[in-house]
Amino acid sequence: MAQVTLQQVRKVYANGYEAVKSIDLAIHDGEFMVLVGPSGCAKSTTLRMIAGLEDITSGDLFIGARKVNDLPPSKRNVAMVFQDYALYPHMTVYENMAYGLRIRKLSKDEIHQRVTNAAHVLSCLTSPCPIWMPSSGCTCGRRLSSSKRRSRRPWCM
Ligand SMILES: Nc1ncnc2c1ncn2[C@@H]1O[C@H](COP(=O)(O)OP(=O)(O)OP(=O)(O)O)[C@@H](O)[C@H]1O
Ligand SMILES: [Mg+2]
Repeated sequence: MAQVTLQQVRKVYANGYEAVKSIDLAIHDGEFMVLVGPSGCAKSTTLRMIAGLEDITSGDLFIGARKVNDLPPSKRNVAMVFQDYALYPHMTVYENMAYGLRIRKLSKDEIHQRVTNAAHVLSCLTSPCPIWMPSSGCTCGRRLSSSKRRSRRPWCM
């Protein structure tokens, strides 16, 4: 993981709405940071700027020592878990977690090591749902979605 630093970051949307006036924030390497606030206070806007899904109007954003203002999302090595998480219902928990790594053509051994490590951290494979089905009402979906991202070894999640 890497430190994430926001320096006087501001966001004005195309319609002129100023969603973020100026935010200074340092999230240290390995730190678990929670943004809390009323609806519309720009939590998602801030996270989307960190991920590169929204442009920053002004200010600087660093991931580690690197300024990433103009770096596209795919180059930031930031993993995201959305509120509407996407899982593959026809795959087992293990397969869901391994899928993204298989696409990246990692070796079987490497995939196994990363999946078991991420599953251990988030207690996924020990949960009582070895097979994910969307209609089951299972509560481990977000945890599984998190561990899928975690197995990618992002700089920031
Ligand atoms: N594309 C956009 N264009 C203009 N205004 C926007 C856009 N996206 C979001 N906003 C506005 O920016 C403000 C912050 O929105 P944001 O979604 O970041 O809030 P939030 O804190 O994540 O809210 P919630 O808790 O409801 O998820 C809101 O007033 C919202 O209406
Ligand atoms: Mg939001």
